[in-house]
Amino acid sequence: MTFVVTEACVNCKHTDCVEVCPVDAFREGPNFLVIDPGACIDCIACVAECPVHAIYADVDVPPAMHDYIALNEELAAEWPVITRKKPPLAEAEHWATVTDKRAALRRA
Ligand code: SF4
Ligand code: F3S
Repeated sequence: MTFVVTEACVNCKHTDCVEVCPVDAFREGPNFLVIDPGACIDCIACVAECPVHAIYADVDVPPAMHDYIALNEELAAEWPVITRKKPPLAEAEHWATVTDKRAALRRA
């Protein structure tokens, strides 16, 4: 099992999650974070930290967002580690209520 960052994080990137991870499993892209499934130890600590409820155990990811499981693994291999909280993206409040944000996810 691993935990997975899903769509709600896109264009929000609050980063509260990274501070509690005991194994530095988060990786940072321009407007999204992912969890490295090879590093995550399933401690569940990050789930309660995310203000937009973006993080799920892989077995609990809603069907419409199953592609985010593979996306976390793929992008974790490309993006750098993030361990310290930083301010959320400028329009995080607006994007927190947008549901279909896949097209806005930037890989680089
Ligand atoms: Fe890190 Fe635990 Fe979240 Fe996995 S479940 S990413 S180990 S805080
Ligand atoms: Fe994203 Fe939530 Fe972490 S918005 S950066 S998963 S706290």
